[in-house]
Amino acid sequence: MQRLPIILALFLFIAACGVSEISMKPFPVEEPIIIAHRGASAYTPEHTILAYEAAKEAAATYIEIDLQMTKDGVLVAMHDEKVDRTTDGTGFVKEYTLDELKQLNAGKWFNQTFPDLANKQFESLEVPTLEEIFLYFGDEVNYYIEMKSPGIYNAMEEKLLALLKQYNLIQVNEGLPRVIIESFNEDSLTKVYQLEPRLTLIKLYSFNEEEAALSVQEYNRLRSYASGIGVNLNSVTTDFIQEVQQNGLQIHLYTIENEVEMKKALNLKSNGIFINNPDLGIRIKDEFD
Ligand code: G3P
Ligand code: CA
Repeated sequence: MQRLPIILALFLFIAACGVSEISMKPFPVEEPIIIAHRGASAYTPEHTILAYEAAKEAAATYIEIDLQMTKDGVLVAMHDEKVDRTTDGTGFVKEYTLDELKQLNAGKWFNQTFPDLANKQFESLEVPTLEEIFLYFGDEVNYYIEMKSPGIYNAMEEKLLALLKQYNLIQVNEGLPRVIIESFNEDSLTKVYQLEPRLTLIKLYSFNEEEAALSVQEYNRLRSYASGIGVNLNSVTTDFIQEVQQNGLQIHLYTIENEVEMKKALNLKSNGIFINNPDLGIRIKDEFD
């Protein structure tokens, strides 16, 4: 008779401590989540606050952020290991201190490369740190964060987890994880899993065209730490998508660049879609039967 209040107290204590592993994953979705790839990178300079703002405006389910790390150990949003393509500088991010990186311009390249989409506002953009992104958006968006090249950086995983905890982002938002972590690097993902098993993890793959395949052993290993996989669109078939889902994993497809690819991704019935133009993705998804 006296056990009931104890059990109830225990349940309330666990609930008060935060989000349980069970409630974080898996996260069943009725329709695919829309992941704004590098922000709304189709029409704003990728991985800038404006690109993420545009993705939020478009009501993307997640903003995607690729992570690199500066010489002085600060996590910053950038896809490439080098600054050459998306700033006016040259060389590796890891050879820049944050102060030095902040001197670079992260938007002029876009105006030069895409004159039809050029915007004066882009000329004053800088490379944001992950912390600046969290401070700017807080819990107004969901974050889909890729650990890029974690092998070349020291303690990228620990630094990421520390920031997620500092900004209280290990939580559920309307049935979805506030944060999803993705990587091509399995060692890095399993390290995150060991440090914080509540987080939702996605293992990335890049397969040859129409050659996506996983063995029974790989499915078993994936299920031990991940909630799903991210795979290039041109490699998958409907059978593969179904096989992944029947193996208890979600599958997210990258990277959709136009209407034709979006319709293909919807027909494949994946659980998530990385898209450079989230407005387009959401419109087509809403129109889709
Ligand atoms: O993260 C999924 C997809 O973004 C991988 O491609 O090269 O754009 O990071 P990439
Ligand atoms: Ca990425």
